[in-house]
Amino acid sequence: MYVGELLKSLDRVPSGVPGLDDIIGGGFLPGRVYLVTGPPGSGKTTIGIQFLVEGAKNGEKGAFISLVENPKIIIQDMLRYNFGLLGYVKSKMITFHDLGSYLLRAEYKMSWTELFNAILKAINEEEIKRVVIDSFTSLEHLVKDSENKRWALGRFIRALQELEVTTIITAEMLQGDSYTDEHYLADGVIVIHHFMRNYQMIRALQVLKMRGVPHDSNLKRIHFTEDGIQVYPEAPF
Ligand SMILES: Nc1ncnc2c1ncn2[C@@H]1O[C@H](COP(=O)(O)OP(=O)(O)O)[C@@H](O)[C@H]1O
Ligand SMILES: [Mg+2]
Repeated sequence: MYVGELLKSLDRVPSGVPGLDDIIGGGFLPGRVYLVTGPPGSGKTTIGIQFLVEGAKNGEKGAFISLVENPKIIIQDMLRYNFGLLGYVKSKMITFHDLGSYLLRAEYKMSWTELFNAILKAINEEEIKRVVIDSFTSLEHLVKDSENKRWALGRFIRALQELEVTTIITAEMLQGDSYTDEHYLADGVIVIHHFMRNYQMIRALQVLKMRGVPHDSNLKRIHFTEDGIQVYPEAPF
């Protein structure tokens, strides 16, 4: 490996989430894989779309791999934000890949390796710089050989790094869930929390892990705005 290549890793990939880059030292590291996890409705998909829109704004192509939901519904839900998503979809700066229907249609249970290969095939198109895989929820029921997951996932992450794409994987996390293979293998883990306090829903974000980057792991207040999720520098309460 050349020094130039190592220094390239000092570049940052802006997340597209206002306020987030400030607590992760300027942005994500290029070519790395990040996990965004949290309960249902916490904003994981929204953060994924913000990440792809930020790239598209700067001429970087992005791919959204949907493993569960219908991409049409995701696009519809995102139209109420000022992302200009439709324009990027039309110009193919952001492409949506419906692997969910493929997974559900398959007459046999595929292995993790087969699933990961299908994802790689979808993104193995030139020029893609940003990838979102949404979400790793409940796939255990659709996939066989669950015990091989960690190895298959490790190989998959290696393959993503070789493609030099920066990736966000989302995963549902319910309260009290233990850490999963994704937590151990990802280069960074961002957890979105929501909880009730004085009859009010408090939403917060926490950078649990961020390899190679000095970061602030305290809970930060987040808010849904017309521009998507925004992270504030202060505690949620
Ligand atoms: N203006 C808003 N105020 C509060 N919550 C909102 C607002 N807009 C969207 N949400 C929440 O965002 C959720 C959708 O976010 P999404 O990114 O799809 O979550 P996830 O992917 O984690 O399930 C909605 O279910 C809703 O709870
Ligand atoms: Mg979602």
